[in-house]
Amino acid sequence: MHNLKNNIAAVLNLSIGIDTHELASMIEYPPDSKLGDLSLPCFKLSRRLKAAPPSIAASLAAGFECEGIDHVETAGGYLNFYIDKNYLAGNVLDKIIKQGESYGSSDMGKGKTVVLDYSSPNVAKPFHIGHLGTTVIGHSLRMLHEFAGFKCVSINHLGDWGTQFGKLIVAYRKWGSAQDIETGGIDALVALYVRFHEESQKNKSLEDEARTEFTKLEHGDQSNTALWKWFIEISITEYQKTYKQLGIEFDSYKGESFYTDKMPEQIEILREKGLLKTDNGASLVNLEQFNMAPCLILKSDGSTLYPTRDIAAAVYRKRTYNFDKAIYVTSAGQSLHFAQWFKVVELMGYQWADQLVHIPYGTVSIDGSKLATRTGNVILLRDLFAMAIDKVSEIMEEKNAELQNREEVAEAVGVGAIVFHYLYNSRIKDINFVLDDALNFDGNTGPYAQYTYARACSILQKGGEYGDGAKITADEETALLKILSLFPERVESAISEYEPYIITRYIIDVCTAFNRFYHDCPILSAKDGDIRSFRIKLTAAVKHVLGNAFNLICMRKTDRI
Ligand code: ARG
Repeated sequence: MHNLKNNIAAVLNLSIGIDTHELASMIEYPPDSKLGDLSLPCFKLSRRLKAAPPSIAASLAAGFECEGIDHVETAGGYLNFYIDKNYLAGNVLDKIIKQGESYGSSDMGKGKTVVLDYSSPNVAKPFHIGHLGTTVIGHSLRMLHEFAGFKCVSINHLGDWGTQFGKLIVAYRKWGSAQDIETGGIDALVALYVRFHEESQKNKSLEDEARTEFTKLEHGDQSNTALWKWFIEISITEYQKTYKQLGIEFDSYKGESFYTDKMPEQIEILREKGLLKTDNGASLVNLEQFNMAPCLILKSDGSTLYPTRDIAAAVYRKRTYNFDKAIYVTSAGQSLHFAQWFKVVELMGYQWADQLVHIPYGTVSIDGSKLATRTGNVILLRDLFAMAIDKVSEIMEEKNAELQNREEVAEAVGVGAIVFHYLYNSRIKDINFVLDDALNFDGNTGPYAQYTYARACSILQKGGEYGDGAKITADEETALLKILSLFPERVESAISEYEPYIITRYIIDVCTAFNRFYHDCPILSAKDGDIRSFRIKLTAAVKHVLGNAFNLICMRKTDRI
């Protein structure tokens, strides 16, 4: 429809001279297709054309002719356009088939670089359901930007620095063993961390010991550094298992510690510019003028803080990647933190401060205590995925016991179900996660979408070759084509609004339209050869669009379920 909007705008431009882009952006999709497939609300033009909307609509309608538009009608101040079905069946469908895996992509971001900071868990702490949002929203935004031609750099800004490492080192020396950690992995680290907190309730001097060990680490003590590196390695190995299930790879794992030697330069600039104030020995930037609490830069003992590291990291990333946009995906709980340090970067005089974007998301809760794990009340991402995979396995055993690669499919569907369910709402909305809802094959879910994709694959496999014919005969075909034609625009909105849910909702629209078509129109059994061929071709287009859309939300495709 993208093209159609442009086609229409180009024709209108010839009669009223208003910029084509601007005209295209005024064209809307009426909620009810009786009011046209596309519509121009003429009141948007009335001031400039110095005429009443109905008379503008009437004069534009007279003699209107445009490729892809069958006819126009006026309704009050609206000019309504009705699409030519043959244009959909020919032009639009051919384009989808021809472009295949690149249908929906664009060169909107050509020559531009986007740095995305997401997932970024804290080392040796559990990787839990709270990280699901940053991980999947972040990766989806990466895929979307890449699809639109941006060069993307994904960064896992690991929380790999701070006093918790002093605690871990103390706990490890007192109660741990190399063997425990080698076999237990991150769980063994978390257990040590938990034990430290229990013991330090009784024995306050442990906190001092931990601080001493951290200070030693800060000064490069060899044995502490070796332990610290090892803890990070163990943690990353664990995270990567989860990332692999999601199909996620990072370009960089430079965590907070990497910026240790990059902070002094920024602190110096803050000082030179007179931005740093001292308060009870701590150094901070006062942001009262901007209605925000001060941004803390140094503690009273001179040690740096989370915002200090973020400022140094942003400068480093600008210098290294020369980004046009830097996106940070975290829970809304960190919105103030980002607003504060973004402001500090601006006050420091960095011109690119307005290229920093924080993308917040709401909280997740889980139904019941069923998912509680060994580590206490938190639900580990790993366990959530495992539960989903198990349940899908069970369902599949009932549905299709003969499936060859059941484990692989169960993983794709189980993990996909969680991702899809999570990304089904506007990101800022708080969600209560109900696993059974996510796994319902008959709901607006990942499994339903993957099942539909597999159905298309199976039709194509049985259907064989299809010709070039464009014999459109049923309303369901037209409806489906109209939806397929919207994909490029949906990708664009998902990017401009930073909202992957625009894609998940779109996937459901495609599935619903395809399933309606599938139920009402015989495909493989169609008697007329041209109709059969056209319907198979339409099915091939559905497969492309769904497949491309799944990629954008990090949901895997499976040809069979
Ligand atoms: N490690 C942080 C946490 O788990 C998230 C880091 C987000 N990225 C950043 N540059 N601050 O809360």
